[in-house]
Amino acid sequence: TLELSGLVTKLESLGLGPIPQFSESHVLNKPLDVGRSYLAEILRNLTECDPNLAYKSIQVPNDIFTADLTVPLPKLSRGVYSQSFGDGLRRRFPSSPLFALPIQDGVHLRFMFNPRALPQLLLPYILDRGASYGKDRSIGLQDAETLHIGPKKLVVEFSSPNIASEFHTKHLRSTIYGAYIANQYECMGWEVIKFNYLGDWGKHLGLLGAGWEKFSSEEKFEADPVTHMLEVYNQINELFQPEKHASRAIRDAKRTGKEHGEDTAAIETQGLFAQRNAFFKKMEDGDEKALALWKRFRDASIEYYVRHYPSMNITFDEYSGESQVNSKTMDEVEELLKAKGISEESEGAWIVDLEKHGGKSGNVIIRDRDGSRAYSLRELAAILDRFRKYSFDKMIYVVANDHDLHFSRIKKILELLDMSELAQKLEHVNFNRSPHTSDHDQKLSDIIKEAKVSMHQSLQQNTDKAAILGDSDESAAKIGISALLAQVLSNRRSADHPLEMAKATSFERGSGPEFQYWYARLSSILATGSTDPAALSSEDFQSIEEETYTELLRILVQYPDITSAAFKTMEPSTLMHYLSSITDQLSVCFEAGESEEKPELSPAEYVLFEATRQVLENGMRLVGIRPVTRD
Ligand code: ARG
Repeated sequence: TLELSGLVTKLESLGLGPIPQFSESHVLNKPLDVGRSYLAEILRNLTECDPNLAYKSIQVPNDIFTADLTVPLPKLSRGVYSQSFGDGLRRRFPSSPLFALPIQDGVHLRFMFNPRALPQLLLPYILDRGASYGKDRSIGLQDAETLHIGPKKLVVEFSSPNIASEFHTKHLRSTIYGAYIANQYECMGWEVIKFNYLGDWGKHLGLLGAGWEKFSSEEKFEADPVTHMLEVYNQINELFQPEKHASRAIRDAKRTGKEHGEDTAAIETQGLFAQRNAFFKKMEDGDEKALALWKRFRDASIEYYVRHYPSMNITFDEYSGESQVNSKTMDEVEELLKAKGISEESEGAWIVDLEKHGGKSGNVIIRDRDGSRAYSLRELAAILDRFRKYSFDKMIYVVANDHDLHFSRIKKILELLDMSELAQKLEHVNFNRSPHTSDHDQKLSDIIKEAKVSMHQSLQQNTDKAAILGDSDESAAKIGISALLAQVLSNRRSADHPLEMAKATSFERGSGPEFQYWYARLSSILATGSTDPAALSSEDFQSIEEETYTELLRILVQYPDITSAAFKTMEPSTLMHYLSSITDQLSVCFEAGESEEKPELSPAEYVLFEATRQVLENGMRLVGIRPVTRD
C-alpha cells in the first residue's frame, strides 16, 4: 500500500510543503482529502478562522464537472457573509501547485485541481493502491486496536425465498442488493456473515404437505424436485383460494364491525383449511412422517440454491431459515412476553396489542389460535439466537418494503422487552416490492437462463461488441448476469422496478454489458504497453493535459468519496451512475482519438487508461459484477 513517505515525496516534487494535518482527513485512502487538507490550510491563512471549520466548509459539488471542491462562503464566514468577503478571498488566493485560481459562483467559491499536478499526483496514487483504491478498512477496524478486539461484525440477511414458492422479483432484488451490501461492508473492514433466512416453515408448507398427498409424483420429484414442488404447490393453492377468500371476507367484515352470520372457524375447520393446518400442526408437534417429508423439501431446495446462487457470484455463510430457530429460545421469548405482561390471550391466540404499550395500533400474533408459533415469535427468537452466536455489532435485513411494518413492530417489542440496545443494532434496508411481471412459477434458475438467452441475442445483434467480448455460451452466461445485476442496482431502492431483460442485456448507457465492453476494450488496448507511472517523466505527462483527459482524471479522483457516500446511504445506484460517468468520458476520449486517427497511445495515456481500468474494475467488483475477459 501507498506509504505516507511516497506520497510526501510526490507532493514535494510538485512543490508542495508537508501535508497539513486534520483529524477527518484520510490522505492515504482519499486523494481528494489531500486537496481538502491543502485547501483548508490556505483558507485558514486567508481568513484566520479555526482550521477545522475551514476543513469542514469544503464540499464536493453536486455536479463534479463544475468544480473538484467547492466552499459555500457563508459556512466559512459563520454566516456573516458579504460580497466583499468573497472578492477578497479570490484576490488574495495564493498561487498553488495544486489548484488553479478559484471561480466565484454566487455564494460559492469553486476550486479546480491544476491540470498539470493532477495526473502526477493521482495516477501513481491509484496504481499503487490498486484493488484497494476506494476501500477503507479503518472503518471496520475502529476500536479494534485500542480495545484488542476483532473488526466490527455485520450479519446481513438477504434473498430469503420461500420454499415451494416462486422466486419473486423482490427476492431477486434482495439477493442483488444484499450481496452488494456484504461486499461494501467487507471493503470497509467489517467482518461479514451472510445469512439466507429461508421461508421453510409455516402454513404454506402445511398446504404443500396436504397437496403432496393428492398431486405429487415420485418420478417427477426425483427428476426435478424444485419444479415439481412448485407445481404441486400451485395446484393445491388454486383449490385453496376460494376458502381463503371466504375466510378473509368474514375477518374483514368483523374488523369493520359489520355483522356476519358466520364465524371464520366454520370455514377453517373444514376442507383444505383443515388439511393444511393439520399438516402444519404435525410438523410443529414433531410428527416423524410429516417432518421426513418436509426435510426432503428443504434439502432439495437448499441443494438447488447452493447450485444456482454462485452463477450470480453470490454465496452464503449460512442457510438458516424459519425452521432453524431454536425452539427453546422461542419458549424463552414467549415466557418473557407473558411475564412482563406484554402479550395476552385473545380468542385462543396469543398476541401483543401494541396500542396498549405506547405503540401505533396493531396486533402482533405470537401464537396462532391453533397453537402453532407465529412468524413474529420466530423472528424475535432468531434475533436472540444470532446475537448469542455472533455478538454482531449490526444486523441488516435486506427485505422489501412489504416488511416495513413487521420490522418496526419487532423493534418495538424488543424495546418493550428492555432490549433497546439490541433493537438499535438492527437495520432494515428496504426497497420497493416491485410489480411482478414474470409468469406464474418462476424459479431463480429461470431468471438466470433468461438472462443468458437474451444476452446471446444481444451479442448476435452487436457484432462489434461481440468481437471484443466473445459470444460463446459461457460469455453470454457471464455477461447476462452482469446485465441482471446492473439493472437492479442502477435503480434507487425506493423505485418500483420491474425486470426488463431486453433492456438489461442491451448495450445502452449504464447497462451491465456496456461496462463489460469498456472493461474488455481497455484490457485489450493495455495488453501491449507499459503501465508503470514511475517510468514517466514530467514531459511525458504533457500528453494528457488536454481537457478530455483532465475530465477523466477528475472523475477518477472522486471514487473513494463515492464509495463512502454509498456506504452511508446503502444506495448502489450512486455507484452505478458514477461508473457510467467513467464510460461516458471514455467514449469522449476515444472518439477524440479516433477522429485524429492517432495510431498509438503515448506512455502517459497507457498509464491513464490503466488507472481507469483499475477504478472501473474496483467499482464493478464492489457491486458484484465480475469483469469478463475474452475466452
Ligand atoms: N421469506 C420472506 C418473504 O419471502 C422474507 C424473509 C424476511 N426476513 C425476515 N427475517 N423476516 O417474504
